[in-house]
Amino acid sequence: MFESQIIAVTGASGGIGRAIAEMFIVHGAKVAISDRSLPTKTAQDIGAKAYECDVSKDKNVTAFIDAVEADLGPIDVFVSNAGVGFGNGPHVAGGNNKSWELSWQINVMSSVYAARRLMPRWLDNQQGRFIITASAAGLLNQIGSASYTATKHAAVAFAESIAIEHADAGIRAHCVCPQYVRTNMTKGMKMAENGQDDLLEPVDVSNALLEAMKNDEFLVLPHKVVKKYTLGRAHDHEAWLDGMIKFRRSLKDENIPL
Ligand SMILES: NC(=O)c1ccc[n+]([C@@H]2O[C@H](COP(=O)([O-])OP(=O)(O)OC[C@H]3O[C@@H](n4cnc5c(N)ncnc54)[C@H](O)[C@@H]3O)[C@@H](O)[C@H]2O)c1
Repeated sequence: MFESQIIAVTGASGGIGRAIAEMFIVHGAKVAISDRSLPTKTAQDIGAKAYECDVSKDKNVTAFIDAVEADLGPIDVFVSNAGVGFGNGPHVAGGNNKSWELSWQINVMSSVYAARRLMPRWLDNQQGRFIITASAAGLLNQIGSASYTATKHAAVAFAESIAIEHADAGIRAHCVCPQYVRTNMTKGMKMAENGQDDLLEPVDVSNALLEAMKNDEFLVLPHKVVKKYTLGRAHDHEAWLDGMIKFRRSLKDENIPL
């Protein structure tokens, strides 16, 4: 399906990014993966080309795209997958500025930087596919992390803007919104490991993305139950908030760290 396409994935030394990169390679793509430190071992294991890119800086994202295009050719699909999360601390604004700024730069601005570089050529050629790994937290809420929730909502909104603004120019966007997935991000996280819904594997996310691309669907929901939750939130916001407050109370009662 992606025979000879050039695909770049950020934050792909492991977890969901690696699974997405592998899925594209299996389907015939030439894949570039990047991470904060050069992901040499992962690249060797899956047959990708490795790049170092700290996506929090505009110039790094631009340099990554330019290097991939010089080495492999024009990028057809960009997967903005790198992400970070920080706990609230004592209250919703308890995290320091650094953690909020990093969340904003990595979870939101890195996609803007990449789109800024790619969009002019994609618009000229009337094709291109931009994938953002956001989160179910971007549709609902991550209890315990206001910075993650706020920036993932922004990530979903940016993906929606790509889909709306550029559909007529042949550009496609997909927004990947899982709940908990077994990766470094959720390691030792009681809320994920003992959660009310399934803890999925990274390959479940890449399979769901493939399915969504085949069906030309924007929203990728590896946990099917997220659709029910988002419809519930849209239908009755007050009831949804009440439900979330009760859910948080139950986590506290079970001594699950938030
Ligand atoms: N694991 C989950 O439960 C879950 C659920 C929903 C969404 N997500 C999202 O999935 C994406 C991938 O996360 P994951 O679960 O595979 O965890 P992960 O920790 O394995 O992957 C995140 C990757 O982002 C990289 N990264 C962090 N800061 C970076 C920076 N400044 N520049 C470049 N790379 C950076 C990390 O080095 C890491 O490889 C993230 O955007 C995350 O928010 C994860």
